[in-house]
Amino acid sequence: MTLQTLNLFPTPVWVRQLEPEATARVNRDAMALIETFRATSAATKAGGWATPTDLQDRPELHELMGFVRETAGEALAALAVEHDGFLVTGCWANVKPRGAGHPSHIHPNNFLSGVYYVRAPEAGGNIVFHDPRQQPFLLAPRTRERNLYNSRNADLPAREGMMVLFPAWLHHSVAGNSGAGERVSISFNIMFERFGETLARPKWGAQSED
Ligand SMILES: [Fe+2]
Repeated sequence: MTLQTLNLFPTPVWVRQLEPEATARVNRDAMALIETFRATSAATKAGGWATPTDLQDRPELHELMGFVRETAGEALAALAVEHDGFLVTGCWANVKPRGAGHPSHIHPNNFLSGVYYVRAPEAGGNIVFHDPRQQPFLLAPRTRERNLYNSRNADLPAREGMMVLFPAWLHHSVAGNSGAGERVSISFNIMFERFGETLARPKWGAQSED
């Protein structure tokens, strides 16, 4: 008799690799935009630097934003979310020189977050997702091997042209760049359009007295 395992309450992380031709176009245009900020960025430091956070409407990122919207639409469909549309509420580039990483964080006030890799040198720093649950690790016996059930985190190697989409509440960090060159990524947030008008009302309907 086979033992069946039910994987309840999974945390979805969506990964998509753009086609080589699209990757080349998107990365060329993204780097052209990012270079315009490099000389003037006040945030330049050993830990890396980032552009302003409102790049979503820049023409250089138009094709990338198309992929973002397409991927987010598929993710929301997979979640069977009823909504009246969504917005890319923020978009910015991160440049991480050798040694630079990023501490664990979430993206408040959004539903989905994501990242796209423009430059991803070998060993340039994986994105690491952290299990938001504390309960399973109150008792943490030694294990023979690492697997989905006993890991507190999961890392994903960055690849150029790869997009990763995840719930905005999911803690994530970036390991230090020990690769040969800069790591360049573009982050973005997605939130429902007209959230207050369409999604914040009580779910039980107007007839309820509660
Ligand atoms: Fe992030």
